Amino acid sequence: MFDRHLPRSGGRFRSVAAVALLTVAAGSPAQQAAMPSHADGLVTRDVSGWLQTSTPTGRIDKGGPFFQSLGSNGRSCNSCHRQAEGWTISAAEVRKRFTMTRGTDPIFRPVDGANSPLADVSTLAARTAAYSMLLDHGVIRVSLPVPANAEFKLTAVDDPYDYASAQALSLFRRPLPATNLIWDTAVMWDGRETYLAFKPPMDAGINVGDLRLSLASQALHAVLGHEQAALAPSQSTLDAIVGFELHLVTAQYYDNQAGLLNEDNGMGGADILALQKFWIGINDSLGNDPSLDPFDPKVMRLFDHWREPDRSRRLDPRSMARAAIARGQELFDSLPILITGVAGLNDATGQTVIRGTCGTCHDSPNIGNHSVAAPLNIGIADANRRTPDMPLYTLTNIKTGQVVRTTDPGLAMLTGKWADIGKFKGPNLRGLAARAPYFHNGSAATLRDVVDFYDTRFNIGMTEQQKSDLVAFLSAL
Ligand code: HEC
Ligand code: HEC
Repeated sequence: MFDRHLPRSGGRFRSVAAVALLTVAAGSPAQQAAMPSHADGLVTRDVSGWLQTSTPTGRIDKGGPFFQSLGSNGRSCNSCHRQAEGWTISAAEVRKRFTMTRGTDPIFRPVDGANSPLADVSTLAARTAAYSMLLDHGVIRVSLPVPANAEFKLTAVDDPYDYASAQALSLFRRPLPATNLIWDTAVMWDGRETYLAFKPPMDAGINVGDLRLSLASQALHAVLGHEQAALAPSQSTLDAIVGFELHLVTAQYYDNQAGLLNEDNGMGGADILALQKFWIGINDSLGNDPSLDPFDPKVMRLFDHWREPDRSRRLDPRSMARAAIARGQELFDSLPILITGVAGLNDATGQTVIRGTCGTCHDSPNIGNHSVAAPLNIGIADANRRTPDMPLYTLTNIKTGQVVRTTDPGLAMLTGKWADIGKFKGPNLRGLAARAPYFHNGSAATLRDVVDFYDTRFNIGMTEQQKSDLVAFLSAL
């Protein structure tokens, strides 16, 4: 009764007809080259294999407003949300686009593509410098003012691009995937486009109407902002955009080493993901699941059958790659992490140390986002992780005089609350391989960098083997 139902034409997500064609052996470059692109364009190449997007109709309609320029600068949603990059952008693809168009593709617009909206973009050299954050980290400049009622003041700005102020902080953020949205519990990194009437535990399930409202508001602001439209698009245009993106489901489908991810009882790929059970609060790690079921640390059950290959196949390279993915899944669910200093979690529960796992925060089964809107500060925006290309902001607490330095105040830019500084949502973890770099500011160039971040941040002490198994698993999501 808690399942979220979306109208899906035909009732079921159509499975990919080309599966038979894809069962060629993986591994050698020649065999990889033989991988056909799906006839309906639902499967695309990425760094470690093939990504699949599934839709109820079995095709992606590229004629809708998501793909049309609705404003004045030539951009569409598709400028920053591309199928082959998991419906966001990757820094590598953006660099290719820059080279091919000498920095004139519509994504390269000063308004929020450049390090500063005032940057000189008149020559190729000027554009190379002006768009360096987008080229290096795949980030867009989100501009937000310090809220009027904030508990803090902006007392110093160190902006290498000489633009940011209290009226307009420059916050460099990765576009979030415009797919797998039916499972979103917060819209945008800081949740600022979330209009959900969810109050745990009374309000079980999600009202898709609320999600549609959130996404329509998000799309409206994207057209007016990113696309620089003078006028708001019509409600029917917004409805068409939301209807389109809400029906996209995306996941890794094929791994260069492990082969088809839905073979031999594997449950990878978008068709299986589309059937995933979900409701707001499902498997909540703090016990707020409206179904009253306790938290099950086994969050991921995609590759349970790959742990022990048949005796006959134990040494076959594909079986070994599958076993690595299965070990990575097990680490995700069970490797102990002593969670400390995470605002939104340690303070909220009154526990200085929480003995958890990756799944404590990524608790939605087989999806990996946080199943409630629970913005957390895991330290990505902390001053000690700042690289010289990022602005650094000094915030002073008006009451206590306390000082914090951060590259992005996150949720605090909405609420004005001191306690919300540096909080961001726990994002969806499917389709990761196609969309490097990672974290809200693109500070982790690879999935290995993500794993290294956690190893350092929480003093886990992972072995090389554990790290590579985790990367194999994350790459297969
Ligand atoms: C110039 C690049 C750019 C363009 C163009 C763009 N977006 Fe985005 N999009 C972003 C960025 C950056 C974010 C994350 C911003 C944040 O969280 O502060 C984002 C976030 C989103 C999200 C939130 C997903 C989630 O899980 O929270 C959705 C949905 C989305 N965009 C849809 C659209 C649509 C629809 C359009 C076209 C009307 C569009 N975007 C145009 C850059 C862009
Ligand atoms: C204490 C909560 C917490 C724990 C534990 C945790 N994560 Fe995260 N994770 C987050 C939050 C919050 C973000 C977003 C942070 C940001 O960008 O500022 C995130 C982001 C990520 C991302 C980036 C996704 C993207 O789209 O950029 C990956 C990948 C990830 N986590 C994997 C893991 C793995 C693997 C583990 C275990 C080793 C883990 N997480 C443990 C809270 C957590």
